Amino acid sequence: MAAKNRETLQPKINPNTNRTRLIAGNWKMNMNHLEAIQAVQKLHYLLRPADYGFAEICVIAPFVDLRSLQLLIDSDSMGFSLGAQNCYFESKGAFTGEISAPMLAKLGVRYVLVGHSERRTIFGEDDSIVAKKLKAVFESQMIPILCVGETEQEKQAGRSSEVLTRQVQIAIEAVPDELLKRIVIAYEPVWAIGTGLAATDVDASWGASHIRSVIRSLRSAAVSDSAHILYGGSVNAGNARSLIDSESVDGLLVGGASLDPEEFARIVQS
Ligand code: PGA
Repeated sequence: MAAKNRETLQPKINPNTNRTRLIAGNWKMNMNHLEAIQAVQKLHYLLRPADYGFAEICVIAPFVDLRSLQLLIDSDSMGFSLGAQNCYFESKGAFTGEISAPMLAKLGVRYVLVGHSERRTIFGEDDSIVAKKLKAVFESQMIPILCVGETEQEKQAGRSSEVLTRQVQIAIEAVPDELLKRIVIAYEPVWAIGTGLAATDVDASWGASHIRSVIRSLRSAAVSDSAHILYGGSVNAGNARSLIDSESVDGLLVGGASLDPEEFARIVQS
């Protein structure tokens, strides 16, 4: 019964791109497990079946929320996918305080953020750590959402395309084509994250198209045409429509605005 309900909540292929859309809410370090349950219940109440047909909707929650959300989503046959915000690249061992990819897979997690700019800047994750985490996520049959983006300083110095190229190139180096076809990459210009200064649809489409062309030149058109590319950075209900309609953009990674179920539902419905 649950499986049957779920099927009706599958996202439809966007005929313009031949890919599905994905809208993911990155809660960052917000929402304890009780708040998380309430938020997801409210979102479920606000969304209509057609919304799940427009895009796959994912909640990227703190580790401590995942088990509660897994049970809730399963027991009520909700149409959400579950995401985690980070993982360690080793699968087990003496790594106090870390969470491995296989542990997340056991919790029904489908997506894992890798290389979010807050991980890169606050926690010192460099491109080689990002590459190892990406590989670990794929090895556990989950899908990484690789986050890339230039800082304000890099943008001013005219280095945006060089930065994106480097971040993508190093991250995907060890990933075989068949897995790479499933990757999600979020173009998140650092200057747009949490600042209220969202990129324009022109910026978003430039970033997404550049990322796609990097994959094409490193691999093939078949791989780059299959990859999903999201835009993230100060997305809200007012700008979501034009950003998701930008060329090469397959969806949105929403931070602050995803914490309010009403605003997040408006983003999906916009
Ligand atoms: P924001 O965050 O929407 O609050 O700018 C986006 C992100 O960090 O993924």
